[in-house]
Amino acid sequence: MTDLDLRTGTTPPAQPGVGGGWRTPAGLYRMISSPALRMILGWDLPRYDVRVISRRPGTVCVEVGSGGGFYTTALKAHLGTGSTLVALDPSPSAMRSLQQRLDDSPGARMSYVAGDGCLLPLADNHADILFYGYSLEEMPDPLAAIREAHRVLRPGGELVLFLWRPVFTRTRRRPVVAVLDELFERRHTAAGPQNIRLVYRKAAR
Ligand SMILES: C[S@@+](CC[C@H](N)C(=O)[O-])C[C@H]1O[C@@H](n2cnc3c(N)ncnc32)[C@H](O)[C@@H]1O
Repeated sequence: MTDLDLRTGTTPPAQPGVGGGWRTPAGLYRMISSPALRMILGWDLPRYDVRVISRRPGTVCVEVGSGGGFYTTALKAHLGTGSTLVALDPSPSAMRSLQQRLDDSPGARMSYVAGDGCLLPLADNHADILFYGYSLEEMPDPLAAIREAHRVLRPGGELVLFLWRPVFTRTRRRPVVAVLDELFERRHTAAGPQNIRLVYRKAAR
């Protein structure tokens, strides 16, 4: 992966209200959730990919837009017992089926929240880690979602974003990355043909 077009030094100030503009159709989501397909296309290997996320005993991690749980099982195992993983998605039925599938799998203690990433139903400074696996680009107001991430993350906490490049085009992501760079310290960038992966830290007080 290479660092391509994510510099924001010359980017104009972010415009308020960058739209979401994309919802993965259910049929397409089923197809792109196939681990074999994602592996063959070189997109994602959950057990490997989640290693970019820090882990310490007692960590509270929120996966915003967990959907069908493509990353959730691997994330639960990665964080390990003693930590807590909150899976959050607007769809109550997705949350119910995820719960049925994951409650007996090894790893972090789970909780499941039906909620909106643009208005997180979580307290200020609640989370040590926020993870967005190809979900920010589907939210109706990605800039509001980033401000919510900043509110909910504790000082020193980590924000990890996987973005799907064909959907989150350069024009759409520029103002988003500008706000991210304004609010957080960027720690890691990886950009490939399909994916962009960004790791940020919220400044410690
Ligand atoms: C492409 S799917 C990715 C799901 C999963 N993380 C994965 O990698 O397979 C996008 C997800 O974003 C979720 N989403 C859309 N709008 C959202 C919002 N406002 N707040 C939280 N999640 C949202 C969708 O419900 C869906 O589960």
